[in-house]
Parts: sequence; structure tokens; C-alpha cells
Amino acid sequence: MIVPGGRLSGVCELPGDKSISHRYAILAALAEGRSEIANYSSAADCRSTLECLRRLGVAIESRREGVCINGAGLDGLKAPSRALDAGNSGTTMRMLAGVLAGQAFRSTLTGDDSLRRRPMRRVIEPLRQMGAEIASRDGGLAPLEIPGGELRAIDYALPIPSAQVKSAILLAGLYAGGPTTVRGPVRTRDHTELALREFGARVEAARDAVTVSPRPKLQGRQLAVPGDLSAAIFLIAAALTLPDSSILLHNVGVNPTRAKVFDFLVSMGAPIHFESVQMRDGELAGELTVKYGPLAGGNIGGAEVAEMIDELPMLAALGPFTEKGIEIHDAQELRVKESDRIATLAAGLRAMGASVEEFSDGLRVGGRSAGELRGAKVDPQGDHRIAMALAVAALGAKGDSTMRDADCVAVSFPEFFATLERLRGKEGR
Ligand code: S3P
Repeated sequence: MIVPGGRLSGVCELPGDKSISHRYAILAALAEGRSEIANYSSAADCRSTLECLRRLGVAIESRREGVCINGAGLDGLKAPSRALDAGNSGTTMRMLAGVLAGQAFRSTLTGDDSLRRRPMRRVIEPLRQMGAEIASRDGGLAPLEIPGGELRAIDYALPIPSAQVKSAILLAGLYAGGPTTVRGPVRTRDHTELALREFGARVEAARDAVTVSPRPKLQGRQLAVPGDLSAAIFLIAAALTLPDSSILLHNVGVNPTRAKVFDFLVSMGAPIHFESVQMRDGELAGELTVKYGPLAGGNIGGAEVAEMIDELPMLAALGPFTEKGIEIHDAQELRVKESDRIATLAAGLRAMGASVEEFSDGLRVGGRSAGELRGAKVDPQGDHRIAMALAVAALGAKGDSTMRDADCVAVSFPEFFATLERLRGKEGR
């Protein structure tokens, strides 16, 4: 149950970035020697990656401060005794598909109901061009059966802007017969490129192409994961929704390929400030302060969509708290995420009385003049980001809301509700 109102104040830490955690774990497993990864994400998705790596014979200790991984080396993974379960995590499945394509053994990747409905042809096709004949269900759905074997280098133009697909190809490229290039018409998050370099791989990145050299000597190392900006966004939005709020978030990742969301919020008038931004292990992070402030509303579309794809549900759900509303286009990818995020969000916001127009590639959520939100029963369809976006909208509604399956937030931000309540000064209610 979500009781609306109050204000957010205080200071908080965030879970380690989910995208970066996956990459550090996978590369640490393929490296020689030991890696210590501080602030590894507490997300269930990142636990799925560790579980899959354990089943591939990698020794991993999870501790309070992070995880220690004893690298198996590029050729040291072992054939798993049964299917690898990526749970709800698309990043785990797609990135591991790239790694497994280059192994000397056969393996199977599967996942939960949601993940088994998500499109995998986007990784199957380029990996097939590299020589991996991956079998799937219904021509492109998991479980994926990956034969493993020799791989050819390719020069591949991404038909859709996807960092997961780019990463799968770059990881397979570690096992290819020559340098592998991935081209993309629009910029997507570059954590794989940065992490590969940190572990010692040779990566050349130009504006629209990335090339990885095969068979590098990856070396285990100590790394620290910055706080997850895609988790931070929900607390930031809550502060922007509840008058008199003011919060400080420590160590928020602000990698330029993901920071467009902050530019957009600032362009709407959000009082957000970064301080003490520093680079560590190739990634930028800083201290972020945000206060309540009136928001103008605005439009999102084109190339910027890929750079804030995970933040779009929260931005759309801020619509009713803005002057002009929020309109999003060119975001058809939202329909193939953990749920059909356009439809799930539209249903949840409509249940709360918002004015929502749905398009094939986005949605428009009306601003303040369309009326105040009211508490309602909402169902995020097991989708963590929709659950958090609707929870924040419910904070600004009139009357209590109830959410089905609210525990699904653990997929990316297990501490979400507890953190929100601590910042609202309502711990233990
Ligand atoms: C991710 C890339 C994005 C994003 C996902 C994480 C990553 O997916 O939505 O949450 O870590 O590379 P796509 O590559 O499908 O756009």
C-alpha cells in the first residue's frame, strides 16, 4: 500500500549500477587472477549473472562490501551440467550468449516467463554471422541452445540501438579470428567498451563504431561500481513530486552515454546539481542534490531515446506533475522490455486518473491541467521499473494506492521502498 504525501529529505547511497555490475562480473570471470568488485549491485538481475558464472565453474564469493571473483581465464569456463538461468535479466542472457558462442562446449540459456517472451533474434543473427548456429524456440525466443566453437570476426551494423547486442558481439569478438567491429547509428551506453579496457583488452572506439581485438590477456583487478543512476531516477522523481523535498544522493554514476536524462530534467526546470564528479575505473560519478521544483514538461524522441531508455517510464509518470505534460516518441523498444512498458504504464496511470494517449512508439501523459491523480489499484505486471514509476506517481496522488507484486522492484533496486520511507521519515511504519 502506498500512502501519498510527505516530503523527502536526507542523504542516501544507491545500489551499484546494474549494467556496470554485469560487465565487471563477466570480464572478471574471463580474466586471469582475482578481481574484487566493490559496491556490486544488490539487484536480483546481477545475482543471476553471478549464478550463471558459478555454474560455468567460476569461483565467486559474495561479501557485504562486494564480490570477489577468481578469474577462470579466457578459456577456463567449464561446461555447465544444466541450463543457465538468467532469471528476469535480458542483459545476462544477451551478454552471456556472446561469451558462450566462443566456448569449446555446448550450453543452454533460459530465463523466467518474461525473459522467455523477449526477442533474442537480435543476438542470434550476428552470432550466427560469426559462426555460432544458435537454436531457439519459435525462431528467436529463449531457451537458446549455443553450440560453442570457432568464431569469425565480423563488421556488424546494429539494426536497432542496443547496448546489450553491441556487448554480446564485442564479448564474442574476444574469441574471434580477427578484430570485430560493431557500428551503431545512435550512441548507446559504453560500459562494455570502458570495462574491456580496464581489464586490459584493446578497444578502439570512434563516434559510430567500436572495434575489439581478439584474444587479449585480461587481468583481474580491483574495481568499484558507481551508484545506479537508473535507480536514482526514482528517488529524484519522488523529490520532484513532493513539495519541500530536498535530498543528497552519494556517488551517482553519470557516464555521458546515460546522462541525457539529467539534461532533460534540468531543461524542464528541475533543480538538480552535480558536485565532485570524479572518474574511477573509467566511469564518472558524483554527488547529486535535488530539490522540489515546478516542472515545465516536454517532448522526448529521436537519438536521445536510446540514452535514457530505462528512465522513460519514470519520466512519463512525472507527466501529471508537470505544466504541459510529457510526450515520448521513437521508443518502440519499450514494448519489448520486461513488460510492454508503454501499455503497462498507460494502464497504471489511467487507473490513477491520468490523461494518457498511447502511440505505437510512445505515449503522451497530460500535465496538471488534466487533473490530479487519485489513489488506485495498480498492476506493474512484474516489471520493476513500472512498479517504481507508478509508486512515485502514487506518492503524488490523492488517496492511498495498492500495488500488486510490488516485490518485483528487487529485480533492480531491492531497497527502493525502504529507502523511500527512510527519506520520507516514515521508517518502520
Ligand atoms: C542495458 C541496455 C538496455 C537497457 C537495459 C540494460 C545494458 O537494453 O534497457 O536495462 O546493460 O546494456 P537494450 O540493449 O535492449 O537497449
